[in-house]
Amino acid sequence: MAQSHLFSPLTLRNTTFRNRLWVSPMCQYSVDKHDGVATDWHLVHLGSMARGGAGVVMLEATAVVPEGRIAREDLGLWNDNQRDAMVRLVEVIHSHGAGAAVQLAHAGRKASVYRPWEPDRTGTVPEADGGWQTLAPSAIPFDGMSVPREMTIEDIDAVVEAFGLATRRAVEAGFDAVEIHAAHGYLVHQFLSPLSNTRTDSYGGSAENRARLLLRIIAAVRAEIGELPVSVRFSATDYADGGLTPDDVAVFAGWAGVAGADLIDVSTGGLVAGVSIPLSPGYQVPHAELIRRETGLCTAAVGLITDAAQAETIVSSGQADVVLVGREFLRNPHFALQAAAKLGERLSYSPPQYGRAPYEH
Ligand code: FNR
Repeated sequence: MAQSHLFSPLTLRNTTFRNRLWVSPMCQYSVDKHDGVATDWHLVHLGSMARGGAGVVMLEATAVVPEGRIAREDLGLWNDNQRDAMVRLVEVIHSHGAGAAVQLAHAGRKASVYRPWEPDRTGTVPEADGGWQTLAPSAIPFDGMSVPREMTIEDIDAVVEAFGLATRRAVEAGFDAVEIHAAHGYLVHQFLSPLSNTRTDSYGGSAENRARLLLRIIAAVRAEIGELPVSVRFSATDYADGGLTPDDVAVFAGWAGVAGADLIDVSTGGLVAGVSIPLSPGYQVPHAELIRRETGLCTAAVGLITDAAQAETIVSSGQADVVLVGREFLRNPHFALQAAAKLGERLSYSPPQYGRAPYEH
C-alpha cells in the first residue's frame, strides 16, 4: 500500500494507473526518414522512463496528418506503418508496468519548422526543403513564420476525422489513453484564442464557436476509444492582452468534460511569441487548481516540478490529481523511483536488477 498520495493509484474511467507521477509529452525530433515512424531512439527513451517508475509514459505530440507535424522528424499516426511501429513501444512501456498514452496533435500555423537544435535555421521550412503550406483558422502568421492558409469547412472536417482515425490506430497499437493537444499555440489552441481566430463562421467569434473544433475532436476521439481515458492539454493563459485567461479556459475545460474528457492537463502559453512568463517552481499549478475547483474534473499539473516533496504536496493538497514531469525525466529517467525513495515508498515495481544501487543511500 502506498503511503504517499503521489504513489497511490489513479483510476480514470475503466483504467487504473499505478501512480500519479507521469511523463509529460516531449517531442524528440527523432524520426529518421521523415515518415512519422518511431525508431529505436523512441523505444529506449520511453522505455527507460517506464522502467524508472513513471505511472504513465506519454508519447510526444504525434501528428494526425503529415501537414500537422511541427517538424519533419515528428511521430505520426496517420497510417498503419506508424501504428505498427508503436506496438513495440507500447509493449515495452507495459512490460515495465507503466501506462502508455499518446498525445495527438496538429501544429497548424506553427508547423513545418526545423529541429530546435538547428538554431541557425529559423522560420518555416520552405517547400523546396521538404516543408509545406501551413493551415490555420485565420491567415494570421505566428511570429517569424509564413502566412498560413485559412482553413475551409472541408479542411476542418478532415482534421476532425483524422483525430478519430489516429485514435483508432492508437487503440489498435495498445495505448491506454489519448491526449488531445489543445495547448502551446498549436491548431486547436489557434481556434480557441481570439488572437489567432478571426473567423466569422460557426468556428469563430463566440467562445462556443471557437471551442467547436475541440469539442468535435473530443467526440471523434471518444467515438473510437471506447471507455479508455481521454485527456486534453490546454494553455490556461496566452499571457497577452485580448488572449485567453484562466477563467476562459476553465469554461472550455468544463465543456471538454461534458464532451467526454476525463483529465485536463494544464499548461500555459505558446500562442504568442515574446510574452513575459513568470517562471518559478510549479508556476502553472494554480491554474490546474482553479480548473479542478471550477469544473470538478481531474487535472494534471506540469511545469518546473522537479522535487518529490513538491509533487507530493500538489496531489495531497488537492491542487491536481496527476503531476506531469518533463525535463527532470530527461535528466534522470529514474526520477519516479528516486522520488518514491525520498517519500519513503517501497515500490513493488522497483527493478531488482538495480537493487544494489538503492536511491536511499
Ligand atoms: C516539451 N513540451 C511539450 N509539450 C507538449 O504538450 N507536447 C510536446 O510534444 C512537447 N514537447 C516538448 C519537448 C521538449 C524537449 C521539452 C523540454 C518540452 C512541454 C513539456 O511537456 C512540459 O509541459 C514542459 O517541459 C514543462 O514541464 P517541465 O519540463 O518543467 O517538467
